[in-house]
Amino acid sequence: MLPEFRYRKLGYAALNVTDLARSVAFYTDILGLDLAEEKDGRWAALRCGPDHHSILLNQADEPGLKRVGFQVESEADLDAAFEHVDRLGFSPSWVDDEETTELRQGRSLRFRHSGSGLQLEFYADIWQMAQPFEARLAKIARLGHVVVSVTDTKEMLDTLVGKMGFLVSDRVDGFVSFLRCFPNPFHHSFAVASGDENRLHHVNFMVSDIDDVGRALNRLQKHQVEIVYGPGRHPPSDSIFIYFLDPDGMTLEYSFGMEEFPEDNPRQPRTLEPVPESLDYWGGMPSPAFAKVGRFEVA
Ligand SMILES: [Fe+2]
Repeated sequence: MLPEFRYRKLGYAALNVTDLARSVAFYTDILGLDLAEEKDGRWAALRCGPDHHSILLNQADEPGLKRVGFQVESEADLDAAFEHVDRLGFSPSWVDDEETTELRQGRSLRFRHSGSGLQLEFYADIWQMAQPFEARLAKIARLGHVVVSVTDTKEMLDTLVGKMGFLVSDRVDGFVSFLRCFPNPFHHSFAVASGDENRLHHVNFMVSDIDDVGRALNRLQKHQVEIVYGPGRHPPSDSIFIYFLDPDGMTLEYSFGMEEFPEDNPRQPRTLEPVPESLDYWGGMPSPAFAKVGRFEVA
């Protein structure tokens, strides 16, 4: 059953980093985001489009996934979401005015997924920046998706798919389920992989030019950035990808191309055989450091 609110898109990922200045330099000068704002050495807002932030970097003692923000279509959808989440017993709370003002967001609600402790945030309004995003290094079109690893995938999928309006686009049997936030058309904005602890799997940025994946390979090598998977081609979403590590060892991805689903009469989800070729047509294998860093901040 779909809830009575509509998502607009994946909004942002808030990541904990151990050296904010070092990470800001990496996310701007190597990944290619624009710095929107930096606050007293506490956090930095980075963008790849008109929104004030698609990534928030927070200074912290250990790397991690602090929260994931989703934008809903309207303030009415936000109110409906609050009632819905409250009815489910997830104890949502409104973020205080001081913090939303600082974050340049409108009213925002937060709650924790009860099983994994992952914090989710919903909002409808965020500052639209006056200057267009400047694609200096890569034509980043958007924050594409966040993937998490959890010890209990069934429980998280029961929540997101069964109760929170996400739809399964495809799954690799026993490994990962790719979810879209209805009615957002992209094959996946979020995915849930099975893992040995609850942590970030990776954060993806979609580029609008396949050359940006090839250029990234050379740029990353030049800066001694560890490439952990790819370049390759994902069968589920038909995208060309490359994965690499940020300065704390958290996994990031550039990808080009992604299937889009219509709101009405979408195709059925597929269940793919759990073999390496179901994640890379070209037969590549991830390195051991792939998707290993970034525990959920549950405090
Ligand atoms: Fe991905």
